[in-house]
Amino acid sequence: MPVSNQRNLRRLALLGAAAALALGAAACSSSGGGSADPATSGSSGEQALDEARARLTAARIDYTEGGNPKADRVQRWLRFNDPGGTAVELFAGMYERGVVPLGAGITMEKFLHAAWATPNFDATTAFYQGVLGFKASDWVEDRAGFFRAANRYHHSLVLIRSERAAFNHFCIQVESLDDVMRAWHNAVKAGVKLRDDLLRHASSGSIGFYMKDEARGYAVEFCIGHPQLDDETHRPRILPSVPEMLNIWTAELPYRPAAAPGDSGPRESGTPGSEPSANGGRRPPAGKRH
Ligand SMILES: [Fe+2]
Repeated sequence: MPVSNQRNLRRLALLGAAAALALGAAACSSSGGGSADPATSGSSGEQALDEARARLTAARIDYTEGGNPKADRVQRWLRFNDPGGTAVELFAGMYERGVVPLGAGITMEKFLHAAWATPNFDATTAFYQGVLGFKASDWVEDRAGFFRAANRYHHSLVLIRSERAAFNHFCIQVESLDDVMRAWHNAVKAGVKLRDDLLRHASSGSIGFYMKDEARGYAVEFCIGHPQLDDETHRPRILPSVPEMLNIWTAELPYRPAAAPGDSGPRESGTPGSEPSANGGRRPPAGKRH
Protein backbone atom coordinates (compact mmCIF):
# COMPACT_ATOMS: atom_id res chain seq x y z
CA MET A 1 0.00 0.00 0.00
CA PRO A 2 1.86 3.08 -1.14
CA VAL A 3 1.53 5.61 1.58
CA SER A 4 2.45 9.11 0.84
CA ASN A 5 -0.90 10.48 1.78
CA GLN A 6 -0.57 12.09 5.16
CA ARG A 7 -4.29 12.64 5.42
CA ASN A 8 -4.74 8.90 5.48
CA LEU A 9 -2.15 8.72 8.22
CA ARG A 10 -4.00 11.26 10.28
CA ARG A 11 -7.33 9.63 9.63
CA LEU A 12 -6.20 6.30 11.00
CA ALA A 13 -4.43 7.85 13.93
CA LEU A 14 -7.47 9.94 14.81
CA LEU A 15 -9.68 6.92 14.64
CA GLY A 16 -7.67 5.59 17.51
CA ALA A 17 -7.45 2.45 15.47
CA ALA A 18 -3.87 2.67 14.43
CA ALA A 19 -3.99 -1.04 14.97
CA ALA A 20 -5.56 -1.10 11.55
CA LEU A 21 -2.32 0.01 9.99
CA ALA A 22 -0.69 -3.36 10.18
CA LEU A 23 -3.72 -5.14 8.93
CA GLY A 24 -4.36 -2.47 6.37
CA ALA A 25 -0.88 -2.91 5.06
CA ALA A 26 -1.24 -6.62 5.20
CA ALA A 27 -4.78 -7.42 4.33
CA CYS A 28 -5.83 -4.72 1.98
CA SER A 29 -4.43 -4.15 -1.44
CA SER A 30 -4.72 -0.87 -3.19
CA SER A 31 -5.15 0.23 -6.74
CA GLY A 32 -1.42 0.81 -6.74
CA GLY A 33 -0.87 -2.93 -6.65
CA GLY A 34 -0.13 -3.24 -2.95
CA SER A 35 -0.24 -6.20 -0.69
CA ALA A 36 -2.81 -8.86 -0.13
CA ASP A 37 -4.60 -10.87 2.45
CA PRO A 38 -2.34 -12.52 5.03
CA ALA A 39 -3.33 -15.97 3.91
CA THR A 40 -4.19 -15.45 0.28
CA SER A 41 -1.38 -13.70 -1.48
CA GLY A 42 -2.45 -12.17 -4.74
CA SER A 43 -6.10 -11.57 -3.95
CA SER A 44 -7.51 -8.08 -4.26
CA GLY A 45 -8.33 -5.92 -1.28
CA GLU A 46 -12.03 -6.64 -1.77
CA GLN A 47 -11.40 -10.36 -1.92
CA ALA A 48 -9.15 -10.22 1.12
CA LEU A 49 -11.83 -8.33 3.03
CA ASP A 50 -14.45 -10.89 1.99
CA GLU A 51 -12.21 -13.66 3.20
CA ALA A 52 -11.46 -11.91 6.49
CA ARG A 53 -15.22 -11.42 6.93
CA ALA A 54 -15.86 -15.11 6.36
CA ARG A 55 -13.13 -16.07 8.80
CA LEU A 56 -14.44 -13.73 11.49
CA THR A 57 -17.94 -15.11 10.99
CA ALA A 58 -16.67 -18.68 11.28
CA ALA A 59 -14.75 -17.73 14.42
CA ARG A 60 -17.89 -16.03 15.81
CA ILE A 61 -16.16 -12.68 16.18
CA ASP A 62 -18.64 -9.80 16.05
CA TYR A 63 -17.88 -7.09 13.49
CA THR A 64 -19.44 -4.06 11.87
CA GLU A 65 -19.11 -2.97 8.26
CA GLY A 66 -19.28 0.27 6.36
CA GLY A 67 -17.54 2.40 3.79
CA ASN A 68 -18.06 5.88 2.49
CA PRO A 69 -15.13 7.17 0.43
CA LYS A 70 -15.94 10.79 1.10
CA ALA A 71 -16.36 10.47 4.85
CA ASP A 72 -14.03 7.55 5.59
CA ARG A 73 -11.48 7.93 2.78
CA VAL A 74 -11.79 4.21 2.16
CA GLN A 75 -14.34 2.38 0.07
CA ARG A 76 -15.06 -0.37 2.53
CA TRP A 77 -14.15 -1.15 6.13
CA LEU A 78 -14.79 -3.89 8.63
CA ARG A 79 -14.26 -3.38 12.37
CA PHE A 80 -14.00 -5.81 15.25
CA ASN A 81 -12.40 -6.22 18.66
CA ASP A 82 -9.66 -8.84 18.87
CA PRO A 83 -9.56 -11.27 21.82
CA GLY A 84 -7.30 -8.85 23.69
CA GLY A 85 -9.89 -6.08 23.41
CA THR A 86 -8.03 -4.03 20.79
CA ALA A 87 -10.27 -2.33 18.21
CA VAL A 88 -9.12 -3.22 14.71
CA GLU A 89 -10.22 -1.89 11.33
CA LEU A 90 -9.58 -3.69 8.05
CA PHE A 91 -10.16 -1.69 4.92
CA ALA A 92 -10.01 -1.75 1.13
CA GLY A 93 -9.83 1.02 -1.43
CA MET A 94 -8.01 3.73 0.48
CA TYR A 95 -7.75 7.06 -1.32
CA GLU A 96 -4.38 7.62 -2.91
CA ARG A 97 -2.56 10.63 -4.15
CA GLY A 98 -2.06 10.46 -7.91
CA VAL A 99 1.33 12.06 -8.27
CA VAL A 100 3.78 12.59 -5.45
CA PRO A 101 4.40 16.33 -5.22
CA LEU A 102 7.90 17.62 -5.71
CA GLY A 103 9.90 18.39 -2.62
CA ALA A 104 8.09 15.97 -0.36
CA GLY A 105 11.24 15.92 1.77
CA ILE A 106 10.91 12.47 3.23
CA THR A 107 9.69 9.73 0.92
CA MET A 108 7.36 7.43 2.80
CA GLU A 109 6.79 4.11 1.09
CA LYS A 110 4.24 2.31 3.22
CA PHE A 111 2.74 1.62 6.57
CA LEU A 112 4.93 -1.28 7.55
CA HIS A 113 3.62 -2.52 10.86
CA ALA A 114 1.85 -1.76 14.08
CA ALA A 115 2.51 -2.97 17.61
CA TRP A 116 0.30 -3.09 20.63
CA ALA A 117 0.25 -4.56 24.11
CA THR A 118 -2.50 -6.99 24.77
CA PRO A 119 -3.98 -8.96 27.63
CA ASN A 120 -5.15 -12.44 26.77
CA PHE A 121 -1.84 -12.79 24.88
CA ASP A 122 -2.04 -16.48 24.02
CA ALA A 123 -5.60 -16.30 22.66
CA THR A 124 -4.81 -13.09 20.76
CA THR A 125 -1.67 -14.47 19.09
CA ALA A 126 -3.61 -17.63 18.23
CA PHE A 127 -6.41 -15.52 16.73
CA TYR A 128 -4.15 -13.58 14.36
CA GLN A 129 -2.45 -16.78 13.21
CA GLY A 130 -5.42 -19.14 13.16
CA VAL A 131 -8.19 -16.83 11.98
CA LEU A 132 -6.48 -14.09 9.98
CA GLY A 133 -3.60 -16.12 8.60
CA PHE A 134 -0.57 -14.27 9.96
CA LYS A 135 2.62 -16.30 10.33
CA ALA A 136 4.90 -16.13 13.35
CA SER A 137 8.30 -14.75 12.36
CA ASP A 138 9.96 -14.58 15.78
CA TRP A 139 9.17 -14.53 19.47
CA VAL A 140 10.88 -12.62 22.26
CA GLU A 141 10.78 -15.27 24.97
CA ASP A 142 7.12 -15.53 25.92
CA ARG A 143 6.76 -11.75 26.05
CA ALA A 144 6.15 -10.69 22.46
CA GLY A 145 5.53 -12.10 19.01
CA PHE A 146 6.36 -10.79 15.52
CA PHE A 147 3.90 -11.81 12.81
CA ARG A 148 4.13 -11.44 9.05
CA ALA A 149 1.45 -11.17 6.41
CA ALA A 150 1.37 -12.16 2.75
CA ASN A 151 3.79 -9.37 1.85
CA ARG A 152 6.36 -11.41 3.84
CA TYR A 153 7.91 -8.44 5.63
CA HIS A 154 9.40 -9.76 8.87
CA HIS A 155 6.50 -8.29 10.79
CA SER A 156 3.30 -6.48 9.97
CA LEU A 157 2.08 -6.98 13.51
CA VAL A 158 3.78 -7.11 16.91
CA LEU A 159 1.85 -8.28 19.95
CA ILE A 160 3.21 -7.66 23.44
CA ARG A 161 2.07 -9.55 26.52
CA SER A 162 0.56 -7.16 29.03
CA GLU A 163 -2.12 -6.85 31.64
CA ARG A 164 -3.89 -4.13 29.72
CA ALA A 165 -4.36 -3.23 26.07
CA ALA A 166 -2.32 -0.26 24.88
CA PHE A 167 -1.23 0.84 21.44
CA ASN A 168 2.57 0.92 21.27
CA HIS A 169 3.66 2.27 17.87
CA PHE A 170 3.21 2.15 14.15
CA CYS A 171 6.02 2.13 11.63
CA ILE A 172 6.48 3.89 8.32
CA GLN A 173 8.98 2.48 5.88
CA VAL A 174 10.85 5.19 4.02
CA GLU A 175 12.78 4.97 0.80
CA SER A 176 16.38 5.26 1.98
CA LEU A 177 18.67 5.73 4.94
CA ASP A 178 18.84 9.38 3.96
CA ASP A 179 15.10 9.63 4.56
CA VAL A 180 15.51 8.12 8.04
CA MET A 181 18.29 10.55 8.84
CA ARG A 182 16.43 13.54 7.42
CA ALA A 183 13.35 12.67 9.47
CA TRP A 184 15.53 12.20 12.57
CA HIS A 185 17.38 15.48 11.98
CA ASN A 186 14.17 17.44 11.53
CA ALA A 187 12.53 15.86 14.55
CA VAL A 188 15.49 16.66 16.79
CA LYS A 189 15.79 20.16 15.38
CA ALA A 190 12.09 20.79 16.02
CA GLY A 191 12.35 19.58 19.60
CA VAL A 192 10.25 16.46 19.10
CA LYS A 193 10.91 13.99 21.88
CA LEU A 194 12.28 10.63 20.82
CA ARG A 195 11.12 7.50 22.52
CA ASP A 196 14.11 5.64 21.04
CA ASP A 197 17.01 7.27 19.25
CA LEU A 198 18.69 5.78 16.19
CA LEU A 199 18.92 2.03 16.50
CA ARG A 200 19.10 -1.25 14.65
CA HIS A 201 16.71 -4.00 15.72
CA ALA A 202 18.13 -7.45 16.26
CA SER A 203 14.96 -9.23 15.18
CA SER A 204 14.49 -7.71 11.72
CA GLY A 205 17.78 -5.85 11.21
CA SER A 206 15.91 -2.66 10.31
CA ILE A 207 17.40 0.76 11.12
CA GLY A 208 15.23 3.56 12.42
CA PHE A 209 14.12 5.73 15.32
CA TYR A 210 10.91 6.43 17.24
CA MET A 211 9.27 9.79 17.76
CA LYS A 212 7.08 10.17 20.80
CA ASP A 213 3.47 11.20 20.25
CA GLU A 214 2.90 12.54 23.72
CA ALA A 215 -0.71 13.52 23.07
CA ARG A 216 -1.72 10.01 22.13
CA GLY A 217 0.75 8.10 24.24
CA TYR A 218 2.34 6.03 21.52
CA ALA A 219 5.29 6.31 19.14
CA VAL A 220 5.84 6.63 15.41
CA GLU A 221 8.77 4.75 13.94
CA PHE A 222 10.55 5.59 10.68
CA CYS A 223 12.66 2.75 9.33
CA ILE A 224 14.55 1.24 6.43
CA GLY A 225 15.92 -2.22 5.75
CA HIS A 226 13.07 -4.38 6.95
CA PRO A 227 13.57 -7.80 5.29
CA GLN A 228 11.06 -10.02 3.56
CA LEU A 229 11.20 -13.65 4.65
CA ASP A 230 10.91 -16.87 2.70
CA ASP A 231 7.84 -18.69 3.95
CA GLU A 232 9.29 -22.00 2.83
CA THR A 233 12.51 -21.80 4.76
CA HIS A 234 12.01 -19.40 7.68
CA ARG A 235 11.36 -20.91 11.07
CA PRO A 236 10.33 -18.66 13.97
CA ARG A 237 13.13 -18.11 16.46
CA ILE A 238 12.88 -17.54 20.19
CA LEU A 239 14.96 -14.47 20.94
CA PRO A 240 16.25 -13.44 24.37
CA SER A 241 14.70 -10.42 26.05
CA VAL A 242 17.88 -8.35 26.43
CA PRO A 243 18.64 -4.67 25.64
CA GLU A 244 20.57 -5.48 22.47
CA MET A 245 17.44 -7.10 21.06
CA LEU A 246 15.99 -3.61 20.77
CA ASN A 247 19.24 -2.14 19.49
CA ILE A 248 22.23 -4.23 18.49
CA TRP A 249 24.43 -1.15 18.76
CA THR A 250 24.12 -1.31 22.56
CA ALA A 251 25.99 -4.62 22.69
CA GLU A 252 29.21 -4.60 24.70
CA LEU A 253 32.40 -4.18 22.70
CA PRO A 254 34.62 -7.26 22.79
CA TYR A 255 37.71 -5.21 23.65
CA ARG A 256 38.23 -3.01 26.66
CA PRO A 257 41.37 -0.93 27.22
CA ALA A 258 43.77 -2.40 29.73
CA ALA A 259 43.68 -0.77 33.12
CA ALA A 260 46.05 2.18 33.41
CA PRO A 261 48.81 2.01 36.03
CA GLY A 262 47.28 2.79 39.36
CA ASP A 263 43.81 1.66 38.39
CA SER A 264 42.41 -0.75 40.90
CA GLY A 265 40.71 -2.99 38.39
CA PRO A 266 38.12 -3.19 35.69
CA ARG A 267 36.13 -0.03 35.14
CA GLU A 268 32.77 0.15 36.73
CA SER A 269 29.70 0.83 34.73
CA GLY A 270 29.19 4.56 34.51
CA THR A 271 32.82 5.57 34.22
CA PRO A 272 34.06 7.07 30.95
CA GLY A 273 34.65 4.41 28.35
CA SER A 274 32.15 1.99 29.76
CA GLU A 275 28.78 3.43 28.95
CA PRO A 276 26.03 1.51 30.69
CA SER A 277 23.21 0.24 28.57
CA ALA A 278 20.10 2.38 28.61
CA ASN A 279 18.54 0.49 31.48
CA GLY A 280 21.71 -0.41 33.30
CA GLY A 281 21.91 -3.82 31.72
CA ARG A 282 18.65 -5.09 33.12
CA ARG A 283 16.17 -6.77 30.91
CA PRO A 284 13.61 -4.38 29.46
CA PRO A 285 10.02 -4.42 30.61
CA ALA A 286 8.07 -7.21 29.00
CA GLY A 287 8.74 -6.81 25.32
CA LYS A 288 8.07 -3.13 25.56
CA ARG A 289 9.62 -1.97 22.32
CA HIS A 290 10.38 -3.54 18.99
FE1 LIG B 1 8.48 -1.31 14.96
